[in-house]
Amino acid sequence: MLITRRRLLATSAAVAVLPKSAIGQTTQTLADPTQTTQTLTAKEGVQQITPEGYPETSIWGYDGSAPGPVIRVKQGARVAREFVNSLSQGSSVHWHGIRIVNDMDGVVGLTQDAVAPGQAKLYDFVVPDAGTYWYHPHNRAWEQMARGLYGALIVDEATPPDVDRDDIFLIDDWRLTQTAAIDESFGRAMDWSHGGRIGNWVTINGKPPADHAVKLNQRLRLRLVNVANSRIFELGVEGLEGVVVALDGQPLDEPVAIDQMVIAPAQRMDLIVDVTAPVGGQGALFMRGGAQNVQLARFVVEGTARPARMSTPPALPANPVPTLGALASARRVDMLLEGGAMGQMRAAIVDGEQRDSRSLASIGQYWALNGVAGMPETPLLVAERGETIMIRIINDTAFAHAMHLHGFHFRAIGPDGAQGPLRDTALVEREETVEIAFVADNPGDWLFHCHMLEHTAAGMLTWIKVT
Ligand code: C2O
Ligand code: CU
Repeated sequence: MLITRRRLLATSAAVAVLPKSAIGQTTQTLADPTQTTQTLTAKEGVQQITPEGYPETSIWGYDGSAPGPVIRVKQGARVAREFVNSLSQGSSVHWHGIRIVNDMDGVVGLTQDAVAPGQAKLYDFVVPDAGTYWYHPHNRAWEQMARGLYGALIVDEATPPDVDRDDIFLIDDWRLTQTAAIDESFGRAMDWSHGGRIGNWVTINGKPPADHAVKLNQRLRLRLVNVANSRIFELGVEGLEGVVVALDGQPLDEPVAIDQMVIAPAQRMDLIVDVTAPVGGQGALFMRGGAQNVQLARFVVEGTARPARMSTPPALPANPVPTLGALASARRVDMLLEGGAMGQMRAAIVDGEQRDSRSLASIGQYWALNGVAGMPETPLLVAERGETIMIRIINDTAFAHAMHLHGFHFRAIGPDGAQGPLRDTALVEREETVEIAFVADNPGDWLFHCHMLEHTAAGMLTWIKVT
């Protein structure tokens, strides 16, 4: 059901005067489609992201909080949200990782114009895949996401796995001042040309490290989402044992033991774990790196859920992602990543004009894909619908990059032809080459970029066209 602009403004005005309790609801399910579409409003808010005793932080959030509301639907359902922009700058909503129609993808400069302050846009699409997805702006994301604009989009399996709890952990990395305000050092050349905006305060769901009461042998599904601008999280768990069941929303063919938990910006990891720490003890999710591990969440064991652990969980049901065609006859293209500090890049093309590195730096462009910095006029490739595509990502820089393709999940293809799990974001380490393959079954213009948001802004983006 479409609603007119006049009705929409009336609706959003009404939302603004609702009591806080109504706005602050954290779970929304798709209402009766005959009812007025729900809104999702980007606006300023204030919240305690640091421990008690520190001041509250002024943030930007969907419906005024970081994270915004959890949007949760059944596989195959429709998601409809009237996005209202109450910020002072243009914005949009991108539905990260979910395979939807191109004109709902939310990419300013490719699939839509920015939604201006005070304006609104209806996003309305059907979700084909179950799993852990998320949403965020795709305009000045390096600032808007650093200020707190993001939320979870959870699509439930027709028959969800048998777990006692299902927890969503959106892990963010904030750069705060001494008084817990958001550090306004946006666009700093040092960040844009190096590893991006790395913060000094990590939160889960916009809160400081918290305790969660659990029980011995209780089974938890943990949905870990890296919503940070640029930090790669290396995580670990203790007192919890189990398996990884999905990556970037897509189920693994076989669950695998939890080993290296490296989660690059935008990536997700779904775990199914059992509490094995003893009653009275505790488990933890922690972050590695630095002199010592940093605890992000504590699982305090109070009582027993069952006398013994449940049996190993089966794989989640596969989503209807098309299988790759013959790789030998796939259309192939190379994507060369260049630039950044300590890189060799001498020049790149911007808006059709060749510039040397000094001139590039003067306009905040430090990175290039196939010799072009910023959005190229022509796509990296034009694919016919249904074709199998292989892209060789060659990282000739001194930094790791989290390469994200919109609209598709791909598999990394090993030198021996082995196919990796379905993903939407590939961590490509410095000087590493990763080859990916996917079926271009969804028509439209799809962005392909580094999800380290300062790198996107500083040149690392391109697009593909599927006809
Ligand atoms: Cu999370 Cu271009 O997106
Ligand atoms: Cu990058």
